[in-house]
Amino acid sequence: MKALILSGGHGTRLRPLTYSQQKQLIPVANKPVLFYAIEDVIEAGIHDIGIIVGPNADQVKKTVLSRNWDADIEFIYQGEPRGLAHAILVARDYLGDDDFVMYLGDNILREGIVKHKEHFEKGNYDSSILLQEVPNPQQFGVAELNEDGKTIKRLVEKPKVPPSNLALVGIYFFKPIIHEAVRNIKPSWRNELEITDAIQWLIDHGYRVGWTKVTGWWKDTGKPEDLLDANRLILDDIRADIKIGTKARIHGRVVIGEGTEIDENTVIKGPVVIGKNVRIMNSYIGPYTSIGDNVVIENTEIEDSIILEGSEIRNAGRIVESLIGRGVKIINGTSHPFGRKLVIGDNSRLIL
Ligand code: G1P
Repeated sequence: MKALILSGGHGTRLRPLTYSQQKQLIPVANKPVLFYAIEDVIEAGIHDIGIIVGPNADQVKKTVLSRNWDADIEFIYQGEPRGLAHAILVARDYLGDDDFVMYLGDNILREGIVKHKEHFEKGNYDSSILLQEVPNPQQFGVAELNEDGKTIKRLVEKPKVPPSNLALVGIYFFKPIIHEAVRNIKPSWRNELEITDAIQWLIDHGYRVGWTKVTGWWKDTGKPEDLLDANRLILDDIRADIKIGTKARIHGRVVIGEGTEIDENTVIKGPVVIGKNVRIMNSYIGPYTSIGDNVVIENTEIEDSIILEGSEIRNAGRIVESLIGRGVKIINGTSHPFGRKLVIGDNSRLIL
Protein backbone atom coordinates (compact mmCIF):
# COMPACT_ATOMS: atom_id res chain seq x y z
CA MET A 1 0.00 0.00 0.00
CA LYS A 2 1.11 3.56 -0.73
CA ALA A 3 0.19 6.83 0.94
CA LEU A 4 -0.77 10.08 -0.70
CA ILE A 5 -0.44 12.97 1.72
CA LEU A 6 -1.82 16.32 0.62
CA SER A 7 0.22 19.39 1.40
CA GLY A 8 -0.95 21.88 -1.22
CA GLY A 9 -3.71 24.48 -1.23
CA HIS A 10 -3.68 28.15 -0.32
CA GLY A 11 -4.90 27.90 3.29
CA THR A 12 -6.89 31.14 2.96
CA ARG A 13 -8.60 30.64 6.33
CA LEU A 14 -5.20 30.79 8.03
CA ARG A 15 -4.08 34.13 6.63
CA PRO A 16 -1.86 36.00 7.30
CA LEU A 17 0.25 33.00 8.40
CA THR A 18 -0.28 31.30 5.05
CA TYR A 19 0.98 34.26 3.03
CA SER A 20 4.46 33.14 3.96
CA GLN A 21 4.10 29.48 4.79
CA GLN A 22 2.25 26.41 3.66
CA LYS A 23 -0.56 25.70 6.12
CA GLN A 24 0.45 22.09 6.73
CA LEU A 25 3.86 23.31 7.96
CA ILE A 26 2.49 25.42 10.79
CA PRO A 27 3.68 23.76 13.98
CA VAL A 28 1.45 22.34 16.68
CA ALA A 29 3.37 21.58 19.89
CA ASN A 30 6.47 22.67 17.93
CA LYS A 31 6.03 20.04 15.19
CA PRO A 32 4.65 20.79 11.70
CA VAL A 33 1.11 19.46 11.35
CA LEU A 34 2.23 17.55 8.24
CA PHE A 35 4.70 15.48 10.30
CA TYR A 36 1.86 13.95 12.34
CA ALA A 37 0.39 12.55 9.11
CA ILE A 38 3.73 11.18 7.90
CA GLU A 39 4.30 9.54 11.29
CA ASP A 40 0.83 7.93 11.27
CA VAL A 41 1.39 6.50 7.81
CA ILE A 42 4.79 5.04 8.70
CA GLU A 43 3.39 3.65 11.95
CA ALA A 44 0.81 1.80 9.84
CA GLY A 45 3.64 0.08 7.94
CA ILE A 46 3.42 2.19 4.77
CA HIS A 47 6.83 3.21 3.46
CA ASP A 48 6.02 4.61 0.02
CA ILE A 49 4.72 8.12 0.47
CA GLY A 50 3.78 10.61 -2.22
CA ILE A 51 3.33 14.16 -0.98
CA ILE A 52 1.18 16.46 -3.09
CA VAL A 53 2.66 19.94 -3.14
CA GLY A 54 1.32 23.20 -4.51
CA PRO A 55 2.11 26.91 -4.12
CA ASN A 56 4.98 26.47 -1.61
CA ALA A 57 6.45 23.27 -3.01
CA ASP A 58 10.07 24.08 -2.13
CA GLN A 59 9.23 24.97 1.46
CA VAL A 60 7.38 21.67 1.95
CA LYS A 61 10.21 19.65 0.38
CA LYS A 62 12.86 21.36 2.48
CA THR A 63 10.94 20.90 5.73
CA VAL A 64 10.08 17.24 5.08
CA LEU A 65 13.61 16.39 3.96
CA SER A 66 15.10 18.00 7.08
CA ARG A 67 14.21 14.77 8.87
CA ASN A 68 15.24 11.20 8.19
CA TRP A 69 12.07 9.23 7.59
CA ASP A 70 11.78 5.48 7.40
CA ALA A 71 10.10 5.84 4.02
CA ASP A 72 10.68 6.63 0.35
CA ILE A 73 9.13 10.02 -0.13
CA GLU A 74 8.30 11.54 -3.51
CA PHE A 75 6.86 14.96 -4.14
CA ILE A 76 4.13 15.38 -6.72
CA TYR A 77 3.39 18.86 -8.02
CA GLN A 78 -0.31 19.68 -8.23
CA GLY A 79 -0.19 23.17 -9.69
CA GLU A 80 -3.37 25.11 -8.96
CA PRO A 81 -5.36 23.11 -6.41
CA ARG A 82 -8.61 21.95 -7.99
CA GLY A 83 -9.93 19.70 -5.26
CA LEU A 84 -9.03 16.55 -3.37
CA ALA A 85 -10.06 14.26 -6.22
CA HIS A 86 -7.85 16.35 -8.53
CA ALA A 87 -4.87 15.42 -6.33
CA ILE A 88 -5.55 11.76 -7.15
CA LEU A 89 -5.67 12.56 -10.87
CA VAL A 90 -2.31 14.31 -10.60
CA ALA A 91 -0.81 11.37 -8.68
CA ARG A 92 -2.08 8.74 -11.16
CA ASP A 93 1.39 7.64 -12.35
CA TYR A 94 2.86 7.59 -8.85
CA LEU A 95 0.01 5.49 -7.43
CA GLY A 96 0.03 2.95 -10.27
CA ASP A 97 -2.24 0.02 -9.47
CA ASP A 98 -1.57 0.01 -5.74
CA ASP A 99 -4.06 0.43 -2.94
CA PHE A 100 -3.44 3.67 -1.09
CA VAL A 101 -4.45 5.83 1.82
CA MET A 102 -5.07 9.48 1.08
CA TYR A 103 -4.32 11.62 4.15
CA LEU A 104 -5.06 15.34 4.19
CA GLY A 105 -1.91 16.90 5.61
CA ASP A 106 -3.83 19.38 7.76
CA ASN A 107 -5.67 16.66 9.68
CA ILE A 108 -4.42 15.31 13.02
CA LEU A 109 -5.82 12.08 14.39
CA ARG A 110 -4.92 11.05 17.90
CA GLU A 111 -5.34 7.32 17.43
CA GLY A 112 -3.38 7.05 14.17
CA ILE A 113 -4.58 4.92 11.25
CA VAL A 114 -3.48 1.36 12.10
CA LYS A 115 -6.91 0.00 13.03
CA HIS A 116 -8.61 1.84 10.15
CA LYS A 117 -6.15 0.33 7.65
CA GLU A 118 -6.84 -3.14 9.08
CA HIS A 119 -10.58 -2.63 8.62
CA PHE A 120 -10.08 -1.64 4.97
CA GLU A 121 -7.86 -4.64 4.29
CA LYS A 122 -9.84 -7.29 6.20
CA GLY A 123 -13.15 -6.15 4.75
CA ASN A 124 -11.73 -6.16 1.20
CA TYR A 125 -13.49 -2.86 0.55
CA ASP A 126 -13.05 -0.78 -2.59
CA SER A 127 -12.84 2.21 -0.31
CA SER A 128 -13.08 2.79 3.41
CA ILE A 129 -13.64 6.14 5.06
CA LEU A 130 -13.38 7.43 8.62
CA LEU A 131 -16.33 9.15 10.27
CA GLN A 132 -16.76 11.13 13.44
CA GLU A 133 -19.77 12.80 15.02
CA VAL A 134 -19.34 16.58 15.04
CA PRO A 135 -21.48 19.48 16.28
CA ASN A 136 -20.99 21.44 13.01
CA PRO A 137 -21.46 18.98 10.11
CA GLN A 138 -22.18 21.85 7.68
CA GLN A 139 -18.44 22.48 7.56
CA PHE A 140 -17.49 18.98 6.40
CA GLY A 141 -18.34 16.18 4.03
CA VAL A 142 -21.24 14.32 5.70
CA ALA A 143 -22.29 10.66 5.50
CA GLU A 144 -25.85 9.42 5.62
CA LEU A 145 -26.18 5.77 6.65
CA ASN A 146 -28.84 3.33 5.44
CA GLU A 147 -31.57 2.23 7.86
CA ASP A 148 -29.42 -0.72 8.92
CA GLY A 149 -27.11 1.88 10.53
CA LYS A 150 -24.18 0.06 8.94
CA THR A 151 -23.83 0.79 5.24
CA ILE A 152 -23.38 4.19 3.65
CA LYS A 153 -26.29 5.53 1.66
CA ARG A 154 -24.94 8.87 0.52
CA LEU A 155 -22.18 11.40 1.02
CA VAL A 156 -22.64 15.15 0.68
CA GLU A 157 -20.01 17.86 0.75
CA LYS A 158 -20.69 20.72 3.20
CA PRO A 159 -24.50 20.37 3.14
CA LYS A 160 -26.64 23.34 4.26
CA VAL A 161 -29.05 20.87 5.83
CA PRO A 162 -26.88 17.94 6.99
CA PRO A 163 -28.52 14.51 6.83
CA SER A 164 -26.54 13.43 9.92
CA ASN A 165 -23.79 14.64 12.21
CA LEU A 166 -21.26 12.14 10.84
CA ALA A 167 -18.40 14.09 9.29
CA LEU A 168 -15.86 12.65 6.90
CA VAL A 169 -12.41 12.72 8.42
CA GLY A 170 -9.69 13.65 5.91
CA ILE A 171 -8.31 10.11 5.65
CA TYR A 172 -9.53 7.73 2.96
CA PHE A 173 -8.50 4.22 1.85
CA PHE A 174 -8.83 3.28 -1.81
CA LYS A 175 -8.41 0.46 -4.28
CA PRO A 176 -7.34 1.55 -7.79
CA ILE A 177 -10.99 1.73 -8.96
CA ILE A 178 -10.97 5.24 -7.48
CA HIS A 179 -9.02 6.38 -10.57
CA GLU A 180 -12.03 5.59 -12.73
CA ALA A 181 -14.27 7.43 -10.28
CA VAL A 182 -12.18 10.63 -10.27
CA ARG A 183 -12.15 10.65 -14.09
CA ASN A 184 -15.94 10.49 -14.14
CA ILE A 185 -17.00 13.24 -11.77
CA LYS A 186 -17.67 16.90 -12.54
CA PRO A 187 -16.48 19.94 -10.54
CA SER A 188 -18.77 20.96 -7.68
CA TRP A 189 -20.43 24.35 -7.07
CA ARG A 190 -17.11 25.52 -5.55
CA ASN A 191 -15.43 24.42 -8.78
CA GLU A 192 -13.49 21.60 -7.16
CA LEU A 193 -13.30 17.91 -7.96
CA GLU A 194 -14.62 16.63 -4.64
CA ILE A 195 -13.40 13.37 -3.18
CA THR A 196 -16.85 13.05 -1.63
CA ASP A 197 -18.36 12.89 -5.15
CA ALA A 198 -15.79 10.32 -6.26
CA ILE A 199 -16.67 8.04 -3.32
CA GLN A 200 -20.37 8.59 -4.09
CA TRP A 201 -19.60 7.43 -7.65
CA LEU A 202 -18.22 4.19 -6.16
CA ILE A 203 -21.42 3.70 -4.13
CA ASP A 204 -23.65 4.47 -7.14
CA HIS A 205 -21.76 1.94 -9.26
CA GLY A 206 -22.12 -0.88 -6.76
CA TYR A 207 -18.61 -0.79 -5.26
CA ARG A 208 -18.18 -1.55 -1.58
CA VAL A 209 -17.48 1.44 0.63
CA GLY A 210 -16.85 0.67 4.31
CA TRP A 211 -16.32 2.99 7.21
CA THR A 212 -14.89 3.14 10.70
CA LYS A 213 -15.65 5.49 13.51
CA VAL A 214 -12.93 7.64 14.99
CA THR A 215 -13.03 7.26 18.74
CA GLY A 216 -10.18 9.52 19.86
CA TRP A 217 -9.99 13.18 18.97
CA TRP A 218 -9.57 14.41 15.41
CA LYS A 219 -8.79 17.94 14.22
CA ASP A 220 -8.88 19.52 10.79
CA THR A 221 -6.50 22.44 11.38
CA GLY A 222 -8.01 24.70 8.75
CA LYS A 223 -8.65 27.71 11.00
CA PRO A 224 -6.68 29.47 13.78
CA GLU A 225 -9.03 28.22 16.51
CA ASP A 226 -8.57 24.65 15.25
CA LEU A 227 -4.79 24.98 15.49
CA LEU A 228 -5.07 26.23 19.06
CA ASP A 229 -7.39 23.35 19.83
CA ALA A 230 -5.03 20.80 18.28
CA ASN A 231 -2.21 22.37 20.31
CA ARG A 232 -4.18 21.84 23.53
CA LEU A 233 -4.98 18.25 22.65
CA ILE A 234 -1.39 17.36 21.75
CA LEU A 235 0.01 19.12 24.83
CA ASP A 236 -2.42 17.18 27.00
CA ASP A 237 -0.39 14.10 26.10
CA ILE A 238 3.18 15.36 26.40
CA ARG A 239 5.59 14.03 28.96
CA ALA A 240 7.78 16.27 31.10
CA ASP A 241 11.29 16.44 29.70
CA ILE A 242 13.30 19.24 31.26
CA LYS A 243 16.85 19.07 29.98
CA ILE A 244 18.15 22.45 31.07
CA GLY A 245 19.21 23.71 34.44
CA THR A 246 16.89 26.55 35.39
CA LYS A 247 15.85 28.28 38.55
CA ALA A 248 12.49 29.14 37.07
CA ARG A 249 9.46 27.86 38.94
CA ILE A 250 8.12 25.05 36.80
CA HIS A 251 4.87 23.24 37.53
CA GLY A 252 3.39 20.35 35.60
CA ARG A 253 4.66 18.91 32.34
CA VAL A 254 7.09 21.15 30.50
CA VAL A 255 9.44 20.31 27.62
CA ILE A 256 12.38 22.65 27.11
CA GLY A 257 14.84 22.57 24.18
CA GLU A 258 18.60 22.90 24.26
CA GLY A 259 20.22 26.27 24.68
CA THR A 260 17.11 27.79 26.24
CA GLU A 261 17.54 30.22 29.13
CA ILE A 262 14.80 30.93 31.65
CA ASP A 263 15.41 33.18 34.63
CA GLU A 264 14.36 32.68 38.24
CA ASN A 265 11.64 35.31 38.04
CA THR A 266 9.71 33.27 35.51
CA VAL A 267 6.86 30.88 36.30
CA ILE A 268 5.87 28.14 33.87
CA LYS A 269 2.76 26.04 34.27
CA GLY A 270 2.50 23.06 31.92
CA PRO A 271 1.61 21.55 29.70
CA VAL A 272 4.04 23.73 27.78
CA VAL A 273 6.58 23.08 25.01
CA ILE A 274 9.51 25.46 24.58
CA GLY A 275 11.94 25.17 21.65
CA LYS A 276 15.69 25.68 21.40
CA ASN A 277 17.63 28.85 22.17
CA VAL A 278 14.64 30.62 23.68
CA ARG A 279 15.12 33.38 26.30
CA ILE A 280 12.39 33.94 28.84
CA MET A 281 12.82 36.60 31.52
CA ASN A 282 10.49 37.74 34.28
CA SER A 283 7.43 36.21 32.61
CA TYR A 284 4.62 33.76 33.11
CA ILE A 285 4.03 30.98 30.57
CA GLY A 286 0.70 29.33 31.22
CA PRO A 287 -0.86 25.99 30.22
CA TYR A 288 -1.27 24.98 26.57
CA THR A 289 1.47 27.18 25.19
CA SER A 290 3.97 26.18 22.50
CA ILE A 291 6.96 28.42 21.94
CA GLY A 292 9.18 27.91 18.87
CA ASP A 293 12.97 28.17 18.61
CA ASN A 294 14.81 31.48 19.10
CA VAL A 295 11.89 33.29 20.70
CA VAL A 296 12.51 36.04 23.28
CA ILE A 297 9.90 36.76 25.96
CA GLU A 298 10.35 39.41 28.62
CA ASN A 299 7.99 40.82 31.26
CA THR A 300 4.96 39.21 29.64
CA GLU A 301 2.27 36.64 30.48
CA ILE A 302 1.36 34.15 27.77
CA GLU A 303 -1.16 31.37 28.03
CA ASP A 304 -2.95 28.97 25.68
CA SER A 305 -1.06 30.18 22.61
CA ILE A 306 1.26 29.18 19.79
CA ILE A 307 4.31 31.40 19.23
CA LEU A 308 6.36 30.56 16.15
CA GLU A 309 10.11 30.81 15.87
CA GLY A 310 12.12 33.98 16.09
CA SER A 311 9.45 36.19 17.65
CA GLU A 312 10.18 38.80 20.27
CA ILE A 313 7.66 39.73 22.93
CA ARG A 314 8.54 42.34 25.55
CA ASN A 315 6.43 44.12 28.16
CA ALA A 316 3.36 42.98 26.27
CA GLY A 317 0.92 42.50 29.16
CA ARG A 318 -1.14 39.33 29.00
CA ILE A 319 -1.52 37.34 25.79
CA VAL A 320 -4.07 34.52 25.56
CA GLU A 321 -5.51 32.25 22.84
CA SER A 322 -3.15 33.71 20.27
CA LEU A 323 -1.40 32.42 17.20
CA ILE A 324 1.73 34.45 16.54
CA GLY A 325 3.76 33.96 13.36
CA ARG A 326 7.50 33.91 12.77
CA GLY A 327 9.71 36.88 13.46
CA VAL A 328 6.87 38.91 15.00
CA LYS A 329 7.68 41.73 17.42
CA ILE A 330 5.19 42.66 20.13
CA ILE A 331 6.73 45.34 22.27
CA ASN A 332 5.31 47.90 24.64
CA GLY A 333 7.29 50.94 23.56
CA THR A 334 8.45 53.67 25.92
CA SER A 335 8.96 56.56 23.53
CA HIS A 336 6.65 59.47 22.68
CA PRO A 337 4.15 59.68 21.16
CA PHE A 338 2.50 56.86 23.17
CA GLY A 339 -0.12 54.73 21.54
CA ARG A 340 -0.31 51.55 19.51
CA LYS A 341 2.18 51.61 16.65
CA LEU A 342 1.30 48.81 14.29
CA VAL A 343 2.87 47.23 11.24
CA ILE A 344 0.34 44.50 10.56
CA GLY A 345 0.15 42.25 7.50
CA ASP A 346 -2.96 41.79 5.37
CA ASN A 347 -5.79 39.87 7.03
CA SER A 348 -4.23 40.04 10.50
CA ARG A 349 -6.49 40.13 13.54
CA LEU A 350 -5.91 42.17 16.66
CA ILE A 351 -8.37 41.78 19.49
CA LEU A 352 -7.21 44.27 22.10
C1 G1P B 1 -12.20 18.40 3.17
C2 G1P B 1 -13.26 17.49 2.55
C3 G1P B 1 -14.36 17.21 3.56
C4 G1P B 1 -13.79 16.64 4.83
C5 G1P B 1 -12.68 17.56 5.38
C6 G1P B 1 -11.95 16.89 6.51
O1 G1P B 1 -12.75 19.67 3.41
O2 G1P B 1 -13.76 18.10 1.37
O3 G1P B 1 -15.28 16.29 3.01
O4 G1P B 1 -14.81 16.49 5.79
O5 G1P B 1 -11.70 17.86 4.37
O6 G1P B 1 -10.89 17.65 7.00
P1 G1P B 1 -11.88 21.03 3.24
O7 G1P B 1 -10.80 20.97 4.25
O8 G1P B 1 -11.38 21.01 1.83
O9 G1P B 1 -12.85 22.14 3.49
